[in-house]
Amino acid sequence: MPLSQPHGGTLIQRFDENYNLTEIEKVVELDAFALSDLELIGIGAFSPLTGFLTKEDYESVVESMRLKEGTVWSIPITLPVTEVVAEQLALGDKIKLNYNGATYGVLTLEEVYTPDKNREAKLVYGTTDEAHPGVKKLYERPNVYLGGSVVLVKRVKHEKFQAYYLDPVETRRTFEEKGWNRVVGFQTRNPVHRAHEYIQKSALEIVDGLFLNPLVGETKSDDIPADVRMESYEVLLERYYPKDRVFLAVFPAAMRYAGPREAIFHAMVRKNYGCTHFIVGRDHAGVGDYYGTYDAQLIFRNFTEDELGITPLFFEHSFYCNACGNMASTKTCPHGKEDHVILSGTKVREMLKNGVTPPPEFSRKEVVEVLIRGMEEKEKIEV
Ligand code: ADX
Repeated sequence: MPLSQPHGGTLIQRFDENYNLTEIEKVVELDAFALSDLELIGIGAFSPLTGFLTKEDYESVVESMRLKEGTVWSIPITLPVTEVVAEQLALGDKIKLNYNGATYGVLTLEEVYTPDKNREAKLVYGTTDEAHPGVKKLYERPNVYLGGSVVLVKRVKHEKFQAYYLDPVETRRTFEEKGWNRVVGFQTRNPVHRAHEYIQKSALEIVDGLFLNPLVGETKSDDIPADVRMESYEVLLERYYPKDRVFLAVFPAAMRYAGPREAIFHAMVRKNYGCTHFIVGRDHAGVGDYYGTYDAQLIFRNFTEDELGITPLFFEHSFYCNACGNMASTKTCPHGKEDHVILSGTKVREMLKNGVTPPPEFSRKEVVEVLIRGMEEKEKIEV
């Protein structure tokens, strides 16, 4: 059985480092969010997208989680600019997409439109509450969207962990070289705690390989920084995972915290990286109490297996159970809450910040050591 077909049938490749920029005068400055979207479009992680959404596609994605021709796509990928910037541009223009003085891409401007952000917030995030980090970001960004195809002309260089930045063509090749036909993708924006490990390994029991694919783009400020997490993944894989069954590479996207909609999006992207299966646990990509615990699983019912082209693997809330004496979930454990070792993300971050070690039933001690050291170093730098 081959790896998954890219979403939409073709892996988009829009990278040209020899692109001739000399005649292009107009420039749009990107924020870090848009830079990451540009790169992910360019390398095909967002296949079948070839650029930032034009109006009809945008409306269709917001309204019905599909591009206008019908392909499943649940998160609008947009390029917001101010009205002042938009007024200087004309349809058909080629525009340099700059970040920190360097040109990373070129946009061919097909459309300029003003979105209804309240509607976008309501339909994509399920709320217009600005306390929601994804909604806050949506409202903070400028009010006019530019639509059109892009070419990536320069790759983003990362000082740390550059070796883990692989394009979908490369991960696909890697999976093939390893002889994996069934690969399960795992999205995370957290350290891998015991519950994550449990669902990953449960999935690994029925497929050939695990693709650990932590999101390392923009996250909310109280999430654990990506470089600290990366070190914790390395330590964990080294000690507790079979080397020939796990592959680690990063997903350089921004976190939207859009819960169910983001779960679909995360699955489609991992399909582009070559995964045949994708793990969705409890409250995937959720934040606060905005989504029901299993909403991110239920949303998959809106689509047929064929149009998804990747098999979601659903897991219930997992934990260590003192009475069972092992990891379990609400599906496999008969005991009550008093026997379960459950800590909220906020509680764990607070413990780590204060140098307090969460229990080994919650997180491996090697992981905790890395996290506490990493957080201490960050604080030293920030003071
Ligand atoms: S996320 O925002 O990237 O989804 P996180 O890194 O915490 O957050 O979760 C990664 C994956 O593990 C998601 O699919 C999530 O649903 C799942 N998950 C996290 N914690 C648990 C848990 N205790 N039980 C079951 N699934 C979990």
